[in-house]
Amino acid sequence: MKTKISMLFAALVITGLSGHVLAHGNVIPQGADSSAMPPITDGDESENGWVFENPYRSLDEETKTKVIKFGESAYANNCAGCHGLHAQSGGINPDLRELDPESFEDDEWFVERLRFGSAKGMPALGGIPEGQTDPILDQETLWAIKTYVEARRVVAIEEGEIEAD
Ligand code: HEC
Repeated sequence: MKTKISMLFAALVITGLSGHVLAHGNVIPQGADSSAMPPITDGDESENGWVFENPYRSLDEETKTKVIKFGESAYANNCAGCHGLHAQSGGINPDLRELDPESFEDDEWFVERLRFGSAKGMPALGGIPEGQTDPILDQETLWAIKTYVEARRVVAIEEGEIEAD
């Protein structure tokens, strides 16, 4: 009996510990529930319904604040492990705050990288894996993340951390 309990205890400690380790430097995307986000319905049918410009950029302030808040947690759970906490890259992987919201090409590039990933280590988190019907992260989540990153960009420019192009 005593052994059983101590083994159970050991198992709990191990599970607890690995949970702890995972919480830091976690690079495994956790997914996100975007059901509270404004739905994006006017995308290109032939491109899996994607829009190629951030549709949340022009939202009213109140809704945008909600979107940014959701984007912040979705970023933390799915991107921060590689792109840095608070969207501040440690310098190894691209700093997403460098993407210019004024540039149509940068929005397109965002979509491209998320749908198709890159052989250099960017997972296709917005693409539909073979044999499945849904992407790991839908575009409501991804545009919310982009909107959050754009808010971080404004702060970074104010603080002289990155340059506005
Ligand atoms: C497992 C690590 C990893 C995760 C997780 C990850 N990325 Fe990346 N990402 C990369 C790497 C590495 C690159 C550079 C790829 C290259 O240059 O070919 C990259 C590139 C990008 C680019 C292109 C940036 C540029 O300036 O060229 C975008 C946009 C991007 N990631 C967005 C995201 C978003 C949004 C998330 C979360 C939803 C995410 N990534 C999660 C590793 C990751």
